[in-house]
Amino acid sequence: MRILFLTHSFNSLTQRLYVELTERGHDISVEFDINDQTTIEAVQLFQPELILAPYLRRAIPAVIWQQHLCLVVHPGIKGDRGPSALDWAILNDVPEWGVTVLQANGEMDAGPIWAAVNFPMRQARKSSLYRHEVTEAAVTAVLQAIERFVQVGYSPEPVDDRPSGASGEWHPVMSQADRRINWSTDDTRTVLRKIHSADGSPGVEDSFFGETHHLYDACAEDTLRGAPGEIIARRHGAVCRATGDGAVWIGHLKKIIPGEKSFKLPAARALQDKLHDVPEVPIPLDMPHACRTYRDIWYEEKNRVGYLHFDFYNGAMSTEQCQRLRAAYLQARQRPTRVIVLMGGSDFWSNGLHLNCIEAADSPADESWRNINAMDDLAQAIITTDSHLTIAALQGNTAAGGVFLALSADHAFARDGVVLNPHYKNMGNLYGSEYWTYLLPRRIGERGREIMENRLPVGAVAAKRAGLINDCFGKSADDFISMVESTAENLANDPAFGLLLAAKRRQRAQDESDKPLAAYRLEELEHLRMNFYGFDPSYHVARYNFVFRISHSWTPLHLAKHRRRVKK
Ligand code: COA
Repeated sequence: MRILFLTHSFNSLTQRLYVELTERGHDISVEFDINDQTTIEAVQLFQPELILAPYLRRAIPAVIWQQHLCLVVHPGIKGDRGPSALDWAILNDVPEWGVTVLQANGEMDAGPIWAAVNFPMRQARKSSLYRHEVTEAAVTAVLQAIERFVQVGYSPEPVDDRPSGASGEWHPVMSQADRRINWSTDDTRTVLRKIHSADGSPGVEDSFFGETHHLYDACAEDTLRGAPGEIIARRHGAVCRATGDGAVWIGHLKKIIPGEKSFKLPAARALQDKLHDVPEVPIPLDMPHACRTYRDIWYEEKNRVGYLHFDFYNGAMSTEQCQRLRAAYLQARQRPTRVIVLMGGSDFWSNGLHLNCIEAADSPADESWRNINAMDDLAQAIITTDSHLTIAALQGNTAAGGVFLALSADHAFARDGVVLNPHYKNMGNLYGSEYWTYLLPRRIGERGREIMENRLPVGAVAAKRAGLINDCFGKSADDFISMVESTAENLANDPAFGLLLAAKRRQRAQDESDKPLAAYRLEELEHLRMNFYGFDPSYHVARYNFVFRISHSWTPLHLAKHRRRVKK
């Protein structure tokens, strides 16, 4: 079926639906919801049988929904209406939430219902719920709606607009006043709910040392205590603030200066010189996870397998994080284990360079250079490991340098729903490093070029089919982790482990004699030097637009297939 995606951006949910529907043979083209005229033009050009709006911020023009079936994905249960659906569900601590696929009819979220799927709520950030529960429910609901659309005679359910009760209701846009934190009286649970309800956008507005900031990336602290509202500790860029009955860590802040654009930074960095009197409180790498606190890198060991977790906010890896992760990896390599599993984080495996930290640096070019070298050092440590077999376990999505970091492991496994973006060019024609020119052809030969050029997301199933990753499995995160654990343990206890390790060493030695790793790195970095320091500013412009979340003013042609046809 020819399906036009009408969306505010090609966000994670849109990408996931794109790979799921493409996998099922549908012909998908994408148009960003920029204004009525471009939308109308896109529909005329593509002549879709169905229009799907996975992530919309503007109403669909009447002339479109009157003539075409337009299905809108709403992150709310049946009857719920309004632009802050998930925010209210988190703030109101509801036990169950859902996704509804509605027909656009001119009244916001009030059209007939084509499908609805509910899920149990988890105490988590809005962005995490969106990337997991909402996305999975949306995929199920959209597939169901499409099935019903092709069924002859199916009529969708009219929305039940009761004001209250089991079904949802209209909720206004959530304001900052609705989620304002009272540090003296709010307990930890309430503070977390408020910050989670606004993560990753718009963030909860609050004051730090007399400055206004938006808060993101919060978690509970079980042991540190202080006077409510006091900043009592910092750790690896996060700050810990006392609540009415305990404390929370805040990982990221966005400083708000009226009339100026700003972006998120690690909290300690955003507060810069204001934290002199706040102690840095370290944490052992292998501290038991039962104790709630802030950690971005941690290590566990079980049955001859070491698990190295790196849960970096938004999957972005700064120079300092890459260096700490490399140090932790080298420590893991010293352990008497046989397999090391690189777990990434639950929301993202890795999205490569930390573009926000780069943007904030005095010299973004120099910081890009430092960051890519730190990524390369990490990738090199993984590639040259001859004491262990290594596994990259992709619980969450991964993009750009993150994908190639995963390919530096001996095996790469992904959760079924994971989306990979194995290309760099969307970031202002960035060439990329992380030894991709060695790692990609090693896995898929010449086909790698096509993947890099296409600049499209690849679902886990397609990535496995292409040979980019070894396998994908697990409907849920828990299923995936337990399957990764049993695979890793089987590998560690395989009677042929010694032979497997010897074969790995032989292959590496052969590859090194064919072309040294250092030569791949040098060549890649030569291209990157041009990206960072050359005359063409595309990378710096693209990074600026990305970091400041500047909306596209047109849909890139690799997504807007209908416009490509016109160009030819
Ligand atoms: N550095 C800093 N922040 C990053 C990041 C990176 N490398 N990758 C993603 N983010 C942030 C986004 O700014 C966004 O921030 P927000 O919480 O303020 O909204 C958040 O992660 C989610 O990203 P978004 O683009 O909205 O999510 P998505 O799931 O729809 O798309 C990607 C994911 C990875 C495809 C897209 O974010 C991307 O292209 N990232 C850049 C990858 C890259 O070029 N890395 C550098 C070269 S190695």
